[in-house]
Amino acid sequence: MCGIVGGVSTRNIVPVLVQGLQRLEYRGYDSCGVAIHTGSLGAQGGGLQRARSTARVAELMEQVSSGHMQGGTGIAHTRWATHGAPVVHNAHPHFSHGTGAANDAPGRVALVHNGIIENHDELRTALQARGYVFQSQTDTEVIAHLIDSLYNGDLFDALKQATAQLGGAYALAVFHKDEPHRVVGARAGSPLILGVGTSDSENFLASDAMALAGVTDQIVYLEEGDHVDLQLGKYWIEDAQHKPIVRPVRTVQAHSGAAELGPYRHYMQKEIFEQPRAIADTLEGIVGITPELFGDGAYRVFKGVERVLILACGTSYLSGSVAQYWIEAIAKMPCTVEIASEYRYRESVPDAKTLVVAISQSGETADTLAALRHARSLGMVHTLAICNVATSAMVRECALAYVTRAGVEIGVASTKAFTTQLAALFLLTLALAQTKDRLSEGQESAHLHAMRHLPAALQAVLALEPQLIAWAQDFASKENALFLGRGAHYPIAQEGALKLKEISYIHAEAYAAGELKHGPLALVTSAMPVVTVAPNDALLEKLKSNIHEVRARGGVLYVLADADTQIRSGEGVHVIRMPEHYGVLSPILHVVPLQLLAYHTACARGTDVDKPRNLAKSVTVE
Ligand code: M6R
Repeated sequence: MCGIVGGVSTRNIVPVLVQGLQRLEYRGYDSCGVAIHTGSLGAQGGGLQRARSTARVAELMEQVSSGHMQGGTGIAHTRWATHGAPVVHNAHPHFSHGTGAANDAPGRVALVHNGIIENHDELRTALQARGYVFQSQTDTEVIAHLIDSLYNGDLFDALKQATAQLGGAYALAVFHKDEPHRVVGARAGSPLILGVGTSDSENFLASDAMALAGVTDQIVYLEEGDHVDLQLGKYWIEDAQHKPIVRPVRTVQAHSGAAELGPYRHYMQKEIFEQPRAIADTLEGIVGITPELFGDGAYRVFKGVERVLILACGTSYLSGSVAQYWIEAIAKMPCTVEIASEYRYRESVPDAKTLVVAISQSGETADTLAALRHARSLGMVHTLAICNVATSAMVRECALAYVTRAGVEIGVASTKAFTTQLAALFLLTLALAQTKDRLSEGQESAHLHAMRHLPAALQAVLALEPQLIAWAQDFASKENALFLGRGAHYPIAQEGALKLKEISYIHAEAYAAGELKHGPLALVTSAMPVVTVAPNDALLEKLKSNIHEVRARGGVLYVLADADTQIRSGEGVHVIRMPEHYGVLSPILHVVPLQLLAYHTACARGTDVDKPRNLAKSVTVE
């Protein structure tokens, strides 16, 4: 999703800005741009200069070097289009333009924005009435003109007046022609961080600490409603009430992610193969189950709650859906899983004795954050984040947290974040069961033993890659696919379908296999591959019947069968033999071949695997 980098320095920061954008590329974008103040390196006067592109950041880099852009003050952006097509005139930074006769005058305000301004239409109408002429179809340009209209010699002041009129979500970075050594910013609903420079009196703003990797590791996480004023050698923060506030500076080891591809073709492939390590890291140091793994005071919270409500989106929602089976079966607690974007708007019946679990790779997903806040506003204050980013808004906002250690996930399609979420959710299941006296010591040690063996079991599944490459050759020419699973493997089938559609653009749907005859069976022909997740669990015989139903209609089956299921390849039935059944943790193993199938099918179709069209890594707008 959109990314922001900005800063003030006594050196030329154009390379910092553009490299920052490169580090944010993984989030997904469709255009990019950079603007600098040409008078910020000592020359008298100067004004705004920008370069924008609908190609990759590499092309923007060529533009800035051939245009000899240099400046100590600047802002840059990667845009993921919401309002207005991904064309150059909609790309950020946006400039304000003078009114009336001065419409063609060079801009005065330069601005980049993440988020969505909901009242942009009425603001645009009011600004047009005052003579402002719009150059783009974006909601963002409205803010540049609004700040221009409120400017009276103090940009920070104008920004505060402007944000008071904005409805919606924003992270902003802004500079003004008349103040060459100042960048101001604000956040509401979209993340923004401040990077405290270590030299050249510099300070930075960014949407993600990763953008500043190698520039500074001294990071201030701005809170909702904060406004920030960056100048050479100093910065100033005001909270939502415009009171000066000191926020802690944290040392953050952000990895650039770049140049770490190693022998892999894509980050997604690398991340699939990192899963044994990611799970091992996520479970590192755990010698026994205790609620305190989730934070101080977790025992008291777990003891007091009677149900679990899971909130998440996309792949994280599907890890929550697997956990629902575990929590109900093992901890014997009622558990519901809600799509965050639905839950936040629907009328539900709150219960204060609920543990609200927000699951997110990024910890910045707008819908999940909003759903979490909604649950809290309904009186459900016992909140727990399962998240891969320790410094994210979600971890900071929840009373309890478990931080997975998948490492930075660059590929838009989530893989290692999913399996580490599952590992964390299984630990949560055991901790809840233990607190409720539903876990014997023997069961605890058997489960822990199985968890510790997961990395080795995952290695064995990864060794199946050549067989998945062969399947992918069949799938590459298809336009539709059906995925079937039962029980806790139904969400795994859903995750397989999500992965396939996300990166190969093949239309894929998942069904609980028992639903087949209630509708989707009508779709089955020899042109529709049917992927079936077939663990050797209590539902195996029922699943075998479903397989026969498909075969009887000429459907071609691709079955991921545990070694002990006795399902064999034959006419129209392709079987990949998984290791022996892995008990309740089997979903963590069964998802891996589905990730590999999607990955190799996408490669065979030549799509942009790590940055699939229209998608963003971190969905920070609604
Ligand atoms: O960062 P989050 O886990 O909150 O993101 C939620 C979804 O946007 C994400 O899982 C998305 O579905 C992935 N691209 C799926 O691969």
